[in-house]
Amino acid sequence: MHDTIVILDFGSQYSQSITRLVRSLQVYCELMPWDHAEGRIKTIRPKGFILSGGPASVYEKGAPYIPRYIFEAELPVLGICYGMQAITHALGGVVSHSPKREYGQAVLKTVAQNSLIPPGEHFAWMSHGDRIDSLPDGFITLAKTDHSPHAAICNLEKNYYGVQFHPEVQHTPNGKEIIRKFVLDICGAKPDWSPESIITTTVRQIREKVGEAHIISAVSGGVDSSVATAIVHKAVGDKLTAVFVDNGLLRKNEPENVVSAFRERMGMQLIPVNAVEIFMDALSGITDPEMKRQVIGERFIRVFEEQARKSGSPRFLVQGTIYPDVVESSAPDRSQAHRIKSHHNVGGLPETMDFDLVEPLRYLFKDEVRSIGEKLGLPSELVWRQPFPGPGLAVRCLGEVTWERLKKLREADAILREELKISGNLVMKRKNQQVHGTAQAFAVLLPIRSVGVMGDQRTYQEVIALRAVTSEDFMTADWARLSHPLLAKISQRIVNEVDGINRVVYDITSKPPATIEWE
Ligand code: XMP
Repeated sequence: MHDTIVILDFGSQYSQSITRLVRSLQVYCELMPWDHAEGRIKTIRPKGFILSGGPASVYEKGAPYIPRYIFEAELPVLGICYGMQAITHALGGVVSHSPKREYGQAVLKTVAQNSLIPPGEHFAWMSHGDRIDSLPDGFITLAKTDHSPHAAICNLEKNYYGVQFHPEVQHTPNGKEIIRKFVLDICGAKPDWSPESIITTTVRQIREKVGEAHIISAVSGGVDSSVATAIVHKAVGDKLTAVFVDNGLLRKNEPENVVSAFRERMGMQLIPVNAVEIFMDALSGITDPEMKRQVIGERFIRVFEEQARKSGSPRFLVQGTIYPDVVESSAPDRSQAHRIKSHHNVGGLPETMDFDLVEPLRYLFKDEVRSIGEKLGLPSELVWRQPFPGPGLAVRCLGEVTWERLKKLREADAILREELKISGNLVMKRKNQQVHGTAQAFAVLLPIRSVGVMGDQRTYQEVIALRAVTSEDFMTADWARLSHPLLAKISQRIVNEVDGINRVVYDITSKPPATIEWE
């Protein structure tokens, strides 16, 4: 059992940032809705609570409130923004509508020496309409701003703290230090949440859950399904059957690389299933993007079902669900044993498939998944792979997907990625490092032909569009400002080396209004 901090979510847009910040201190924490049942929290035996901000006002009808067990637990509590107001309200202080909404960076002045807020003046990020007017009994003011006379408060005897500002956002430069002081010094949580300990704990939990039963896993070549499969293999060895369905829609050399990564680096018998013909036949004549997705998902199910039958219909299925998926679907505590739903990471498995789920990454963020992937020995190209859509090259081969057209697309895409790699533009964000390079870069084969001239000959051939974007979260993206010499080199290589392509264009549209993929 790791020392754990429970973060109660009152609906703040920053709740996940608090969670990530605590994890970055190597302390395990879980984010739960404010009205989460008490039972699980008791079994976790947390070292302290953080109460997030939220959009409500404590006086509103039906406003979220602090559950009684929090005050009964006799543990340190840190309330952030709404969390602080809810503490004040619950314990008899006065919260009122602030005459001036405070939004943005404010200067925080520490007025009492304390173990949470560093002395002196510093910037803090504010975003609130209500403020504390009078404190509950036993509380003192630790810091103030021009518009918040009680911007940080505490009850030393009970170890209750509250801050009106948001320490979890980057715009509060001392924010991480404040969270560190609360979590490590005030709660006394041990920083033992390292990749090694995550692996040890997860392996133990998987063994406890599955016992002697058999498990099946579908590896797509993506980070999550690969790391999930690798850790389950570490836990149960040959009781795991790992299947890799080659649908013919992966990038150049990818099927071989995935299989060899697992076989040679992990010593695992990954079963490659060559289903290229099945997928090509199914896609024949289809040009509509959504139809392509549907057909690919449906074929995947058939192929996977057959493999499951061949391997004796295992009881458990590995899913690479990660923590943001769980939190975003606002069901942080769905039972681990729930039956499969439409949410999935690999292909599109149907609800009727009768598996119990093993979700070893369910409580991990992407950077934690990557760190344990590296520790487990997966190659870094796989662990740091850029996102790649489930339907693969089918949605980058505009118009009909034929083997011949896929070949052109694959070659052009390989050239683009090779040149980006050589020029240092294919680098994903690494932990504690700046983002540089492109977040996603690929080639798209357009469904048109254009006239060209090559060696005095008229050509009438297909067009490749290059797409390269920078993005933090893939919800919005900007086109990457690749250098002109680099673009020139990529274009020249593609028209010279890929038969049937006589023109290359560069996509200079951001998202929105465009999307990252073309289909
Ligand atoms: P868009 O094109 O919507 O893409 O801006 C945002 C991110 O999602 C990926 N993407 C997909 N991933 N199945 C997936 O697994 C899909 O059908 C799919 N469509 C888009 C896209 O590559 C980008 O990272």
